[in-house]
Amino acid sequence: MERMFGRVLVIVPTYNERQNLPMITERLRAAVPEAHLLIADDNSPDGTGQIADELAAGDDHVHVLHRPGKQGLGAAYIAGFRWGLAEGFDVLVEMDADGSHQPEELPKLLDALADGADLAIGSRWVPGGKVVNWPGSREFLSRGANIYTRVMLGLPVRDATAGFRAYRAATLEKVGLADVESQGYCFQVDLTLRTARHGLRVAEVPITFVERTAGTSKMSRKIISEALLRVTVWGVSGLPQRLRRPR
Ligand code: GDD
Ligand code: MN
Repeated sequence: MERMFGRVLVIVPTYNERQNLPMITERLRAAVPEAHLLIADDNSPDGTGQIADELAAGDDHVHVLHRPGKQGLGAAYIAGFRWGLAEGFDVLVEMDADGSHQPEELPKLLDALADGADLAIGSRWVPGGKVVNWPGSREFLSRGANIYTRVMLGLPVRDATAGFRAYRAATLEKVGLADVESQGYCFQVDLTLRTARHGLRVAEVPITFVERTAGTSKMSRKIISEALLRVTVWGVSGLPQRLRRPR
């Protein structure tokens, strides 16, 4: 693994995931033993941070980033990316804590990087991709968000909001993180757009997304409105350029 991909860091953001964190840690450590894990916890009231510390104490491949409070998925990932780049990791992976992203599928994403991608997205909406146990309303939201994103931004990506992905360190360095303002889940679209606009290669790998069985989703109206607003602004501001250089 080390020879093919370099050093891999998997960043898992957590907010109230005490029931899931030991499970996901164990599965990741078994599936890809060479990879390091960074838990980015936003001072979860349910004590997830303490559990993270206990897991890190017993395993030199597990690390914890304690953040002062709930500042959103985007902010947690940016802090995690900065930590990983400073530590010299070659590949930085995003993965949810709740089991929706299966660590057993991570090697497929790493293979896509080895095949030349600069960003590998674990995609639910390409042939072979699946969603298990999602309510119809969530599927509608995700499909709708992706259609709107594709139309507004002209991105040739089927699952731009996906949260299971692997970046080469060089991709994040080129794209730059300093001016990323997205706080919620639209952070995923934000980085996809930046990566594509830099002319870097985005590969989509089919995955099976399995809805969580413990704890609750942090998806909210606020996250949806932020995404809708930002995608609209990005789309409108990018329009003159798209009209000048039609694909
Ligand atoms: N540190 C931190 N701070 N972690 C957070 C925050 C936050 O503010 N909000 C959410 N998380 C963590 C959760 O604890 C979980 O590990 C992960 O981020 C995903 O959150 P969920 O609440 O489980 O997301 P979801 O299942 O509703 O949404 C999924 O689909 C979205 C839309 O496609 C995820 O895969 C998202 O990444 C994806 O954008
Ligand atoms: Mn989830």
